[in-house]
Amino acid sequence: MKRKELIKKYLDFFKEKNHKEIQNSSLIPENDPTVLFTTAGMHPLVPFLSGQKHPKGKRLVNVQKCVRTGDIEEVGDSTHHTLFEMLGNWSLGDYFKSEAIEYSFEFLTKVLKIPKEKLAVSCFVGDKDAPKDIEASNKWEEVGISKERIAFLGKKDNWWGPAGKTGICGPDTEIFYWKSNTIPAPKEFKPEDENWVEIWNNVLMQYDKNKNGKYTEAKQKNIDTGMGVERTLAILNNLEDNYEEEMWKPIIKEIEHLSSKKYSENTKEMRIIADHIKAACFIINDGITPGNSEQGYVLRRLIRGAVRNLRKLDFVGTDLTTPIAERVFKIYPEYKLKEKLILEELKKEEEKFEKTLEKGLNKFHKFTKNKKELAGKESFMLYQSYGFPIEMIEELAKENKIKFKIKDFETAQKKHKKLSQTASAGKFKSGLADNSEQTTKLHTATHLLLAALRKVLNSEDIIQRGSNITPERLRLDFSFDRKLTSEEVKEVEDLINSEIQKGTEIIREEMHPDKAKKEGALGSFNDKYGDLVSVYTIGNFSKEICTGPHIKSTKEIKSFKIKKQESCGAGVRRIKAIIE
Ligand code: ALA
Repeated sequence: MKRKELIKKYLDFFKEKNHKEIQNSSLIPENDPTVLFTTAGMHPLVPFLSGQKHPKGKRLVNVQKCVRTGDIEEVGDSTHHTLFEMLGNWSLGDYFKSEAIEYSFEFLTKVLKIPKEKLAVSCFVGDKDAPKDIEASNKWEEVGISKERIAFLGKKDNWWGPAGKTGICGPDTEIFYWKSNTIPAPKEFKPEDENWVEIWNNVLMQYDKNKNGKYTEAKQKNIDTGMGVERTLAILNNLEDNYEEEMWKPIIKEIEHLSSKKYSENTKEMRIIADHIKAACFIINDGITPGNSEQGYVLRRLIRGAVRNLRKLDFVGTDLTTPIAERVFKIYPEYKLKEKLILEELKKEEEKFEKTLEKGLNKFHKFTKNKKELAGKESFMLYQSYGFPIEMIEELAKENKIKFKIKDFETAQKKHKKLSQTASAGKFKSGLADNSEQTTKLHTATHLLLAALRKVLNSEDIIQRGSNITPERLRLDFSFDRKLTSEEVKEVEDLINSEIQKGTEIIREEMHPDKAKKEGALGSFNDKYGDLVSVYTIGNFSKEICTGPHIKSTKEIKSFKIKKQESCGAGVRRIKAIIE
């Protein structure tokens, strides 16, 4: 089966069951400070899973591009990818376990025609917080899965959430496929047998966890599912190696052609090159440029990792990534990737890396000559002065049988206090949205800040270029080409604080994007909006298209203060601010 066919079959199946298709969102989450990238189709839906009404209704379906940085270490084997596509269907307080299981079973056995003898499932075993999920296992038996093919597992394997410390959560039920063609599927399902591969996860959001850690039945029960396109296609096409698929093979073939080397003899390197360049293309496409923190750092690490592996295959010169990226563009025409921009960014980063690579490698060998260990200070120098991603330093140390402790690096880094975020920070693992009271306030404060900047600097050209919120602070990137004077900073703060004092109500309305635009709402009016959008209005002060969530009154913020301003690339400024 072809990729397009699988995606179409999935979307059509759920559309027939009254689901509305939602757009494939950006890889950069708009309202979720706890993750760097969209790691699952549910990410853009967090406010709606928490009770907000979705403009398209209660039954949704889509295919979502996802990036999982937690898996980068695994890339090089036959199944892990940094970027992949996920099929998902959602019920927002509509159908629940019974229909979700019926739909999954029907799609797999009737549409994809997978014999049920090749399927097994896992359900939640139960603990002090919630009972064993007999409801789910009974349903599986009812549709035709034998008792022996149902395994019961604990929270580690079969539970999701809550997103923050409190909120909606619940057990999940996972579907497994027996991949071996030579060994028949055993009667009994043992999840540890590697021939069973997980293909689909159905999360059954059923409980509400409160501040005291107690679980009660949730008011709105949701279904959230996820099925990996690459993994499912490999199964349907009987492929042991995902890189044999149509989404990978042309890239691998190009690398073979350019290097005059064989995939069978350089498998790991070629997989890493293909994976990293593909992911880099999509990340650049969604507005990120290589840098030293957060998403920019991941991007830098991917490009530099690809270049290093290209060198291992004896590639020399520059522009090494261009022909490979061009292959990626051909595989995904429907994404309309910004080819020129992507090639420029790749080339720039390659050049930067090129300048320091040789010198850095020499330094590494000098540091470790006749030694068994690389010191923290030295590793930090390689990182800071020669732009070596930390993972590359780890890899180099391993290759050269040199001991290296990440802790030593971190100590050295702290001393220098140069960087705000490193790959070891928790945020690099996939997290879930934090819609806590504090982040919700900061979110509304971000709207106030953008509006205040436009007023004080008297410019309609000031638009949001990026935003990131942690429980401690907000960060807004906006289009503007100079530093604000201290008077301007004060004026912005005063204006916001007076708006806070007023206690203006924040009003949410749903409308067509054209109407929103006509009414002067801010937002990037591109094709990503559907038929209806949410518009948040704060008196006469601010009007923005946004998914939320927001507070009810500006008074909840108390006070606002700008802590830092800096440049963030040509024509883009960054402000960090706090509230009380
Ligand atoms: N959100 C669920 C997952 O990522 C479906 O597995």
